[in-house]
Amino acid sequence: MTSNKNRKESWLVLGASSSVARAFARAAAEDGADIILAGRDMDDLGRTAEDVSVRTGRDVDVIAFDAEDVASHAAFVEDAVNRAGFLNVFLAFGAMPEQDEIDTDFALAERSIAVNYTGALSVLHRLAPHLEEQGDGHVVVLSSVAGDRGRLKNYVYGSAKAGLNTYLQGLRARLFRKGVSVTTIKPGFMDTDMTWGIEGMFLVASPDQAARACLNAARKRRHVVYVPFFWWGIMNIIRHIPEFIFKKMNI
Ligand SMILES: NC(=O)c1ccc[n+]([C@@H]2O[C@H](COP(=O)([O-])OP(=O)(O)OC[C@H]3O[C@@H](n4cnc5c(N)ncnc54)[C@H](OP(=O)(O)O)[C@@H]3O)[C@@H](O)[C@H]2O)c1
Repeated sequence: MTSNKNRKESWLVLGASSSVARAFARAAAEDGADIILAGRDMDDLGRTAEDVSVRTGRDVDVIAFDAEDVASHAAFVEDAVNRAGFLNVFLAFGAMPEQDEIDTDFALAERSIAVNYTGALSVLHRLAPHLEEQGDGHVVVLSSVAGDRGRLKNYVYGSAKAGLNTYLQGLRARLFRKGVSVTTIKPGFMDTDMTWGIEGMFLVASPDQAARACLNAARKRRHVVYVPFFWWGIMNIIRHIPEFIFKKMNI
């Protein structure tokens, strides 16, 4: 991922215990970048760090990060920026409580918004000035097709991702002026802990496939990428279903 072969690239991977994030870290390290893994589960991050550095010979660092603890984000970003070479950012964290549980427990709605929306904005807000100063680099964010339309079975999570998508459109315009690309990734279904046990999933992507698509999207400085690509067509149809029909659908 180097536009200048002499500079030392780093990817800061936020939410690094996600299997997509792990696969992304491995792929980015194979591509020649050093990696900073950030997340809550330090044992898991430590195992990934060992695995990635043994496989690739790249430097892999680990930093504690909690998306909900926004008061800690300024110090976290300073630490990450000091450890990084040339900084690129992969944001993978997210939380998807079940909609029927949210319907009876507002705390779960708050958590979904705190992680998927406020947490993402908080850390990106603090990273943005550093990226502007660098004058180049990539930000890749795992959003979701759920943000494209509010569905009966997932509308709180979907609304948080929709807000995130709108924020990323503005951030893309801001950072583009300084040479930094911002890519919104909209996965359909991926085979990860988040979807474990969910019935009725179809066209499921593996974490490796998704990670490779994210890295390619960064290389090409893409704006919005559906993963796998055919979700663009599916969501295009879903977005155009008239509301009077859509509200009756059990999806
Ligand atoms: N799986 C899918 O079908 C699918 C579809 C569309 C979009 N996505 C998005 O893809 C991304 C990756 O999810 P996944 O599928 O890999 O699920 P996952 O395995 O559940 O990963 C979610 C990640 O978010 C982290 N996280 C949750 N709350 C956090 C917090 N407060 N602070 C820091 N990290 C936190 C988790 O860390 P802990 O290990 O500490 O809990 C974990 O690393 C998410 O943004 C998700 O919304 C997934």
